[in-house]
Formats: sequence, C-alpha cells, structure tokens
Amino acid sequence: MSDVRAFRAALAWMVDDPRSAGDDACVHHPDGLLLIEDGHVAAAGDWAMLSPTLTADTPVEHLPGHLLTPGFVDAHVHFPQADMIGAPGGPLLDWLERSAFPAERAFADLAHARDAAEAFLDELLRNGTTTAMVFGSVHREATAALFEAALARNMRLIAGKSMMDLGPEGLNETCEEGQADTEVLIRDWGSRGRLGYAVTPRFALSSSDAQLASAGALLARHDHVWMQTHLAENAREVALVAERFPDRDYLDVYDRFGLVGPRSVFAHCLHMTDRSLHRMAQAGAAIAHCPSSNLFLGSGLFDLARADAHGVRTALGTDVGAGTSFSIPCTAGLALQVARMRGATLDPLRAFYLATLGGARALGLSDRIGGFETGREADFVALDLAATPLLARRLSGATDLADILTALMILGDDRTIAGAWIAGVRRHQR
Ligand code: GUN
Ligand code: ZN
Repeated sequence: MSDVRAFRAALAWMVDDPRSAGDDACVHHPDGLLLIEDGHVAAAGDWAMLSPTLTADTPVEHLPGHLLTPGFVDAHVHFPQADMIGAPGGPLLDWLERSAFPAERAFADLAHARDAAEAFLDELLRNGTTTAMVFGSVHREATAALFEAALARNMRLIAGKSMMDLGPEGLNETCEEGQADTEVLIRDWGSRGRLGYAVTPRFALSSSDAQLASAGALLARHDHVWMQTHLAENAREVALVAERFPDRDYLDVYDRFGLVGPRSVFAHCLHMTDRSLHRMAQAGAAIAHCPSSNLFLGSGLFDLARADAHGVRTALGTDVGAGTSFSIPCTAGLALQVARMRGATLDPLRAFYLATLGGARALGLSDRIGGFETGREADFVALDLAATPLLARRLSGATDLADILTALMILGDDRTIAGAWIAGVRRHQR
C-alpha cells in the first residue's frame, strides 16, 4: 500500500534561474494542490485542475493562508557554533579565538555533541531548512553523532569533520589523524540514507600543506564526496594566506591541492580576483553567500553580480554562528540588502531561487530536491502569511508572488514556518 496525501494551499517553486529564464523560471498557484506519494512529489499544480483526479480516500490537508515551497537549502552552517550565535569578538581571526574555538572544544564530549545535534537539527527544521551542508568540529565522534541524528530524521545532510592540523590548542590533530578520521566517517556515513560526506579542510590557515594534499587525495579516492571550506572572507586572512603562499592567489592554493571541482563549495568569496572567479566557473565550483555572517564580522559585501558575470553558481549560507540567524529566508532578505549596498538589485524571485533550487544546484542535488516536479523528494515547508500581526497586515490581500516573498524575507523568521516535511513526513510543527 502506498502512502498518498494531498495538501491544498498556495504553491510556489522555481524551475530555473530567473537570470536566464525570466518569468518562466517560477511556478505559482495561488490555490494549489501538492500530491505526495511515498515521500516523493506525485503532482503539483492548480487545485481546480488537479483535484478531480484525487481518489475519494486520499486525505487532503487544507492550509488556507499558507504558501507551500520546497524546503530551504543552507549551503554553509557550523554545527558546533549553534549555541554561540551573537558571541563577542571580531573581525574573523579574533572572533575565532575568542568565541568559536572555545565553543568547539566542548564537542570533545560526546554527550554534549549528541544533545547539541538534536538541538541543531531542530533549529534547522524550525527555520524551514531541509537540506544543509554542515561544518563539524575537528572531532570524529561528534560529527558521527550529527550524522546519526540526521539519519534518524531521514534528513538530507552533507557534513564533515573539520580538518585542522594547524588548529589551536585543544582542537589540533595530526595530518594522519585528520585523514584516518575522515576515512572512517566517509565509510560509516558517506553513503547512508540521505546523508553525504564533505571533506572539510577548515581554511588554508588551519591546515599544513601536507593536510591540504591529504584532503585532495581523499577527494580523488572517493568520487561521491563533496568538499567544503572557507575562501577569501577577511582581509587579514587573505594577507596571511598571501604571506604563506606568495606565488599563488587564494583559490589557487586550494586548486593546486586538488580541492577545486564541481562538488566543491567555498564559503564567502568576498576578496576575489577575476582569475579565481573564472577558474571557479570553469571547474563548476560553487559559492556559499553568507550575508548575515559577513555583516556580523564586518568581513565585506559579497559581489553577486560579479560572480554571476563569471557564471559561478551561488547558494545561500547562514554561516551560523558568525551568521546571526538560522533562517534562510532572512538570509535572502540580507542578500537583497547587501546587493543594494553594492548599487545592484537582487530580484526577490532570484533570492527565492538561491534559497531553494539554486542551493540544490550548487550542491549537485537539483535532480532530487529544490522543486515540486514529479518525482522530487517531498521536502517542503508551509509558510504562514499571517505568522505575526505585522505580516498579516502587510500581506492582507497581497497576490503578487515577488511582493509576498520580499515581505517574507524581510519580516519573516522561524515564526513564519508553520511546518516542515522531510520526504513527506512532517518533522516540524510550529
Ligand atoms: N574561517 C575559518 N573558520 C571559520 C569559521 O568558523 N567561521 C567563519 N565565518 N569563517 C571561518
Ligand atoms: Zn563558516
């Protein structure tokens, strides 16, 4: 017996990048029907057209005043930093020492990591994030605890333990330990359920040449894994990388160790050469744009138009705990504002694309998630258009999708997420 359920509400999803496809990129049904069968989308469209095809025994959940969209994709977030959002310190290198590293040291304790993993996944779902690419601490067991908790929820999570053989006291490892622990995690978790593994050299400054080479070798050995790291986030960081590698630009440091490819995601990319952007586009590598973090640490204003001009794929990342919110819609709202500060305009439908299908494409998962095409995995959220008194007033009578989405990005947060479904199963109810 298959499990079939229907939802009646407004529906919106992207089928392409509005930058290239224009108005055809978006599908919007103000009175829609989403039909789920065994965890996958069986149909999505207009209620009046599709409802006559429902069998009499199909349960229908009616959600008036709600907008159903694909679940959000957070392409860059730190598991061991969830409990220290808004901690003092900055810019980047000072904040790492003062706030991030002390929080991460606590993940040597497995009981703490297990408890934090449940809270972290709860928070992702409370904010409508159904897929995330996650940085773990240096600890293998803590990262395994996160995978275990995500598997129990059937969540689509790509994660990796940070590799850092030049890490600070208490978060250090040898190159050999970093490699062996990563191998074990790839073996144990990299192909289970909806999980994926990302080889995770923290950034150029926290790994020796030998460790960067070992990360490249791991990628070459396991073609199903991803790679995540930080790139050109902060002026001082960039200067220190240039001191250590005087003959290369920052991306080239990673490139020469085999870390730049179609499954590589680089967070930030604020201080980039044209050569680097060109090379990223050529390699099919992606950027995780993290505006709340960039504002919190004063790192800089990402130039999306320039990345677009080079044809580099971009996704959104919260970068919690330097990021100030778990909400990807809120992060998209800040992306709109950062574009403004650069004298550019980010179309709200494009911001919605980055939060959903664009994020899925950046992670190479758009054949499975990010839209409501038949056969996609049924990871979706219900956005309550009257979640707060102000939103209710702002959106009363609104019909234009760009207007609705802009208001949700500017005024919305976890209160807007009435529910989140993972493979058709409700995993969050506000
Ligand atoms: N660069 C290296 N580590 C980190 C981190 O934890 N957060 C941010 N924002 N940048 C980093
Ligand atoms: Zn980060």
